[in-house]
Amino acid sequence: MTRVHVVYAHPSPTSFTREVLDAFLSGLTAYTISDLYASGFSPVMSPAEYAGGPAPADVRAEQELLDAADVWAFVYPVWWMDCPAILKGWFDRVLTVGWAYKPMRLNVASRAVILCTAGYSVPALKASGHHQAMRAVMVDDRIGARAESTDFVVLGDPAQRETHLSTAAALGRSLPLGRNRRQ
Ligand SMILES: Cc1cc2nc3c(=O)[nH]c(=O)nc-3n(C[C@H](O)[C@H](O)[C@H](O)COP(=O)(O)O)c2cc1C
Repeated sequence: MTRVHVVYAHPSPTSFTREVLDAFLSGLTAYTISDLYASGFSPVMSPAEYAGGPAPADVRAEQELLDAADVWAFVYPVWWMDCPAILKGWFDRVLTVGWAYKPMRLNVASRAVILCTAGYSVPALKASGHHQAMRAVMVDDRIGARAESTDFVVLGDPAQRETHLSTAAALGRSLPLGRNRRQ
């Protein structure tokens, strides 16, 4: 069975992004989730962490969830052409030296999924160059070679609500069919 770990970042239980999350989860058979706002995850790196001390318990817990999963999924709204700060801080703290890089860890996940909502439409985001910029940061840098393949799905323009919810559900359903190197 494909195990999916979902990292979710939106503060409101009534948001469109929450509906997208629920649609995505409806297609999954097995998953774990880190709901960063609900759990009160701290995005602030401490001086001790920066100095390379042992990873704190909350960081280790996130790393263990990622290690146990075949697929990593990130669900969030685009804010200022990036993820919310709580998720940026998650990357700062969880992708530590020794666990994520130095040495670079390759293929920790068989697949990663970036699923984000945006106020602008995808054609508008591509015309401005912001779509490519977000892909470069999130897919090429933050996920990089740590996943064998990465899907980058932007659900732009909330007026296309029904289409977006169908896309999210179909993406969830597609994951068990993906390659699973642990089977
Ligand atoms: C602080 C903030 C910054 C935002 N920045 C962007 C942005 O840079 N580009 C964009 O397309 N939409 C932006 N939006 C719109 C959100 O992406 C959009 O409201 C969200 O994806 C869907 O609404 P939800 O909050 O109900 O989930 C921003 C919204 C907020 C609250």
